[in-house]
Amino acid sequence: MAGQGINQFIDLGAGLPTVPNTHATAQAASPAAAVADVDNDPVAISHLTALLARHASRVTVISGDLHHRDTILGDDRLRTVINLSQSVCVIMGMILHFNPADAAARLVKRYMSAVAPGSYLIATIASGKGALAGKFYQTYNATGFATMYNHTSAEFASFFGDLEIVRPGLGDARRIRPGWSELVSVPKRPGRDARRHRTRALKAHLNRDRQQCCGKPESPRRSERCRVPGAVQGPSDHSARR
Ligand SMILES: C[S@@+](CC[C@H](N)C(=O)[O-])C[C@H]1O[C@@H](n2cnc3c(N)ncnc32)[C@H](O)[C@@H]1O
Repeated sequence: MAGQGINQFIDLGAGLPTVPNTHATAQAASPAAAVADVDNDPVAISHLTALLARHASRVTVISGDLHHRDTILGDDRLRTVINLSQSVCVIMGMILHFNPADAAARLVKRYMSAVAPGSYLIATIASGKGALAGKFYQTYNATGFATMYNHTSAEFASFFGDLEIVRPGLGDARRIRPGWSELVSVPKRPGRDARRHRTRALKAHLNRDRQQCCGKPESPRRSERCRVPGAVQGPSDHSARR
C-alpha cells in the first residue's frame, strides 16, 4: 500500500515491535510514510517508544484503547504525523478477534467513516477449525485474561459492511503471497524437563529485565498475548477500501 500512494498508517493494536515493523515496511516502500502505533499494553508501548529515537519525525506511539476512536484520532501526537483530511491506511492486525462479530463490524465502521475517502483498511484475525483449535480457544478464554472469538470466514466478511473489497481480498493469509507455504514445519518439541527448564529461564530473564526497569517483577502473561494467535492455524487477511 505504501508503494501505491498511501503514505499514512494508523496501526491499531500495533503490539510488540517485530522485524520488520510497520514503519520499517512502510518506509522501505515509501520513505515519507508516517505511522501512528496505538496499543493499550504498557510493555508494547515501552518497546514501541524505544524505537522512536530513530524515527521521531514520522512515527508516533499512542497509549490508548482503540475502542475510544475519537480520543485516538484526536490525539495531538497522531495529528502531528497523520493528516486526516488525506487518505490513510488503518491497520487492525490480529485485534478484531477480541470482539464479538457485531462489535468488530461496528469498530471497523467507526474508524472507516472517520477517515478520508480513498482510505484503506488492512485487517487480520486468527481462526481455526477442529479439535486442536477448540482446545486452544477453551484454554485461552479460561485464563480470564481476554476473550478471543473464533470467527468464521462469513463472520469475518461481515465486518466490512459496504467497504469495497480490493485485492488480495478475503482469504487465508498464508496463501496470499506466492511462495508462502501452507504450514511451516515446526521443530520437534523438547522433552518435558527441557521445556520446564526453558520456561523457568524465560521467566527469570523477564523478571530480571523488569526489576532493572521498574524495580518489581511482574507476570509476563500480558505481553505473551501477542504470541498466542500464532498458535492457531489459519489467520485470515483482508483489505478493504473506503
Ligand atoms: C495479537 S497482538 C497483534 C499485534 C500486531 N498487530 C500483529 O498483527 O502482529 C494484539 C495487540 O493488540 C493490543 N490490544 C488489545 N486490545 C486492545 C485495545 N482495546 N486497544 C488497543 N490495543 C489493544 C494488545 O496489547 C496487543 O499488543
